[in-house]
Amino acid sequence: MHYKQLGNTDLKVSHICFGCWQLSPSWWGEVPTGPWTDSVKAALDQGVNFIDTADAYGDGHAESELGKLMQAEGLRDKFVIATKFFWNFTDGDKRYPDTTHDYILRACEASLRRLQTDHIDLYQIHSWDAITRPEEVARAFHQLKKEGKVRWFGVSNLNPEQMDLYANHFEVSALQPPYNLLTREIESRELPYCLSHNIGVLSYSALHRGLLGGRYTAETTFDDHRGKTPLFHGEGFKIILAAIEEAKTIATDLGLTMSQLAVRWVLTNPSITSAIVGVKQPEHITGIVKAADDVLPQKIWHDLAARFSKAKTAALAAAK
Ligand SMILES: NC(=O)c1ccc[n+]([C@@H]2O[C@H](COP(=O)([O-])OP(=O)(O)OC[C@H]3O[C@@H](n4cnc5c(N)ncnc54)[C@H](OP(=O)(O)O)[C@@H]3O)[C@@H](O)[C@H]2O)c1
Repeated sequence: MHYKQLGNTDLKVSHICFGCWQLSPSWWGEVPTGPWTDSVKAALDQGVNFIDTADAYGDGHAESELGKLMQAEGLRDKFVIATKFFWNFTDGDKRYPDTTHDYILRACEASLRRLQTDHIDLYQIHSWDAITRPEEVARAFHQLKKEGKVRWFGVSNLNPEQMDLYANHFEVSALQPPYNLLTREIESRELPYCLSHNIGVLSYSALHRGLLGGRYTAETTFDDHRGKTPLFHGEGFKIILAAIEEAKTIATDLGLTMSQLAVRWVLTNPSITSAIVGVKQPEHITGIVKAADDVLPQKIWHDLAARFSKAKTAALAAAK
C-alpha cells in the first residue's frame, strides 16, 4: 500500500480509503455487521489506514458500528478517522442542513461518543450550507481544535468559491468530491484549486456506486437507491455495460480486474490523495487494494477517459 500526506496536515493516509456509507439502510439496504467488521480488519491487514464515515450514515449507525469495533479490538490508533456533520437528523423527522455554532459542537460530541474516541482526525462539512456564515462555522471549529477534539478540518461537495469563503476563516485541509471515469466535473476547477492551495483530496464513488466494478450484467437489477439512479437501468445501463466490457480487455492486459482499473484511473491523477471505496464485505476491499500499487500509462488514462465520456453522453441521451 502507498501512503500520501493529506494536504497541509501531518496525516499520512493510504491511497485507498475505506468508505462507510454502505451502513445506511435507507440507501443500501441492510448490510450484515459480521462481514462488515471483517472488512475493516481485512482493510487493516492490507495496509489501509484511512476510514471515511459520517454522522448521517444510517443516522449514527455507521459511526456506532465503527466505534464498537475499534473499542472491542483496540483499533482506534491504527486508523485516521474522517467523519462529517451537516444533516441535523435529531430535530424532528425531516433532516435539514445545520452548520450553526451550537449544532456543530453538539454533533461533534455525539460523533465522539458513537466512535468511542476522544478525537476526530478529519472533521468534514458534508455539503454547502447557504444560510450560515463561515465565521460562525469557524468559531465552532476553533473551539473544537483548542479542546483537542478535532485535529484537522475538511469540506465535501464544495466549489472553489465556497472553499475560499471558509478558508478566509479556518484552515481547510481536505476536499471530498465525487470522481471516477463517469464523473469528472472537478478536473477543471476544484482539483487545480486543491493542488495550488495544498488541500488534500479524498475522492468518493471511485466505482460510481459499483457500476464500474465490472460485476453487473444487463440482467442485474438494484433494489436499493441505485434502482432509480440514471445509468443503472434501461438503455443507458446497457451502453455503460458495453463500455465496461471493452475496458475489461485493457484491464486484463495490465493484469488488473475492472474494479482495480477504475480505481487506478482515479489514483493516477496526482491531485488525488486517496480514493474512497464503499465496502460491505471483505472481498470488496481485498479485491481493490492492488489498484494502489502503480499508476496507469498516460495514453491508457486518456483513452479510458475518452471512452467513458463518450459512453456517458450516449447513455444519458438514451435515458431521456
Ligand atoms: N461526501 C459525500 O457526499 C459522499 C457521497 C457518496 C459517498 N461518499 C463516501 O465514499 C464512499 C464510496 O462511495 P460510494 O459508496 O458512492 O461508491 P463506490 O465506492 O463507487 O461503490 C461502492 C459499491 O461498489 C461495489 N464494490 C465495492 N468494492 C468492489 C470491488 N472490489 N469489486 C467490484 N465492486 C465493488 C459494491 O457494490 P454492491 O453494493 O453492488 O456490492 C459497493 O457497494 C462511501 O462509502 C462514503 O464513505 C461520500
